Amino acid sequence: MIVYEQESRTFTLHTKNTTYQMKADRHSVLLHTYYGARVQGDDLSYRIGYADRGASPNPPEAGHDRTYSLDTLPQEYSTCGVGDFRLPSIELELPSGSRSADLRYTGYEIREGKYALEGLPAFHGGSEWETLVVFLTDAAAQVTVELYYGVLAEQDLITRAVRVVNRGAEAVRLCQCASLCLDLSRGGLDLVTFNGAHTKERSPARTHMAPGVQSVGSVRGTSSHQHNPFVILCEQDAGEDHGDCWGAMLLYSGNFQAAAEESPFEITRLVMGIHPYHFTWTLAPGESFTAPEAAMVFSGEGFGEMSRRFHRAIQAHLIRDPYQWERRPVLINNWEATLFDFNAEKLLDIARAAAPLGIELFVMDDGWFGARDSDYAGLGDWVVNEKKLPGGLTALCKELTALGMKFGIWIEPEMINEDSDLYRAHPDWAMRIPGRDPARCRSQLALDFSRQEVRDHVYSQIKAVLSSAPVSYVKWDMNRSITDVWSAALPAERQGEVYHRYVLGIYEMLDRMLSDFPGLFIEGCTGGGGRFDGGMLYYTPQIWCSDNTDAIDRLRIQYGTSFCYPPSTMGAHVSAVPNADTDRSTPLETRGVVAMSGTFGYEMDLSKTTPEERAVMKRQVEDYKALAHLVQRGDYYRLTDPFANGPYTAWAHVSPDRREALVSLVFGTAHSAAPFRSLRLKGLDPDLRYRVNGQDSYAGSVLLHAGYPLPIPRGDYQSLQLHLVAE
Ligand code: GLA
Repeated sequence: MIVYEQESRTFTLHTKNTTYQMKADRHSVLLHTYYGARVQGDDLSYRIGYADRGASPNPPEAGHDRTYSLDTLPQEYSTCGVGDFRLPSIELELPSGSRSADLRYTGYEIREGKYALEGLPAFHGGSEWETLVVFLTDAAAQVTVELYYGVLAEQDLITRAVRVVNRGAEAVRLCQCASLCLDLSRGGLDLVTFNGAHTKERSPARTHMAPGVQSVGSVRGTSSHQHNPFVILCEQDAGEDHGDCWGAMLLYSGNFQAAAEESPFEITRLVMGIHPYHFTWTLAPGESFTAPEAAMVFSGEGFGEMSRRFHRAIQAHLIRDPYQWERRPVLINNWEATLFDFNAEKLLDIARAAAPLGIELFVMDDGWFGARDSDYAGLGDWVVNEKKLPGGLTALCKELTALGMKFGIWIEPEMINEDSDLYRAHPDWAMRIPGRDPARCRSQLALDFSRQEVRDHVYSQIKAVLSSAPVSYVKWDMNRSITDVWSAALPAERQGEVYHRYVLGIYEMLDRMLSDFPGLFIEGCTGGGGRFDGGMLYYTPQIWCSDNTDAIDRLRIQYGTSFCYPPSTMGAHVSAVPNADTDRSTPLETRGVVAMSGTFGYEMDLSKTTPEERAVMKRQVEDYKALAHLVQRGDYYRLTDPFANGPYTAWAHVSPDRREALVSLVFGTAHSAAPFRSLRLKGLDPDLRYRVNGQDSYAGSVLLHAGYPLPIPRGDYQSLQLHLVAE
């Protein structure tokens, strides 16, 4: 519910459990007054204090009132150059060469439903949403700023977006345009970020705010393996099930920055948006710029409830129809089995072993096109290699269809190898800075996806491939960080637009592909989880979580990922042991338990498995099909923290009506003289009784407080899967 109070000029956004408020003050500066647990919509600006703070300037309207300063007030969208020295949200370069921004409130609109953003991913939906638009104006710059708020009351989610319009007669340049500014009148908070590397994505790091700025971000052209565009501010003692926390996600797949600053007066500001590094955007008279969408959730009951609110909103309003609710196909991918060394017969051997197990989709990974026999050649030539696949995709698909399997294919449209026909024909289509030889990454260069003709060419080749056979799934990969950013298509003064235009180019091609091939299922992948963000999830309902398929490492990766993103978005496969990354061997059952907590599949040479292994896999596939509704629609509970190095890692998916649950547990290494332990569950109804794996039954209250008795594991990395059904 959005309420505007005329007298106090307050805007109050209520969700089921939270309240957000801003106020246009006596000088028409838009101040942030509150974001927290749901409260009455009174004017909460009494929380804002005014005092003469030395060295904090006073805007002209304040006259000689030294207690009024932009530097000390909580701003709804922070400015720069005119008195606020903290993190800016917007910076404008005017024709005079000056750099500043100064915004005053000029009006608002409240609309039913959700706003949309042209060319950008955004949460979607209908009457569940309300929209508030607040208009701000920089009179000297003749620029208006529209702040968009989407309120999804039921899921406790509030989205944000920003549109900047040049209303003047001369061009202005945006040098920064954040999507979210959150100025909480709270000090002593912690900042939690999600960090890592290729094969080690999204490990949480928690730091106490100190004076000054703490930030994470990416200047790699992707949202990156290194830092995720999702952060949390929380009380110092907040935990999984208690305490105030504010989560913020950016729906963007390129350079981003999330920066937090605590002021000396205990106001904590979070600013999140496109990274200011090498970002400028020229706005000719009448032109506008739209910053990517951000979304926020507050929870007063710790991280667990915050995550569940994000999960429910993402599942229902970011994932596209019909994949919000439709079970994802169980797949077999040939990459770890064959790498580039395959032909149709080899693929069909794997498929023939997969079909009887109930596996539904065969995904042909890298190596099917051009001269792609290694990762030194071929990218850019999206033409089937008929030496490997005689008769092309048509012949292969015919065989797969006869086996009752669907077909999926790997592509990496944004990339080019120097050893490719495309590069030989269009060397200038690769991103490079004039006068410099570009850096290679995995021996490949990035195409200039900011250019329409480059995208058109790549797309027309890929479209022909997808049209040549019944392709139901595409794995869209991207395997390098972007360097040498410069575009031959833009003048010198617009080169600061290239990074963002590149991302817009990806979104445009994804949109095109989805409208040309309705119902096509696209899985995102960026060397595993290098672009695991809300922007990609809008187009690709699942993302390959990490190239690391080691079950024990995956416990951490999937745990970190779950703070924002629901399990149904995490591509997870059972692979062979010893694991290619870690050389570790884990039981097949355990690999199954871990992969079943995401979108389940296999990535190994099934034609080389034993009958015993195949029997286990057949059961796993059956179990997954029977339990997938819990993984996809259930509420997710983290029961332990795998980074705490405890004796086991456990988690649960509980049906929304709390009548059914899937509890998973993976033990660490085994030890002699181990104690007996019980696992306390979460999310169950204390007043129901649950039958566990069709055997013993326990009261919900018992499982919640006394716990489920665990066996003492024999051997390392054993696991447990408990299916609870209310009686
Ligand atoms: C990336 C992906 C892998 C695989 C290879 C193919 O690393 O993450 O899953 O597709 O590329 O080259």
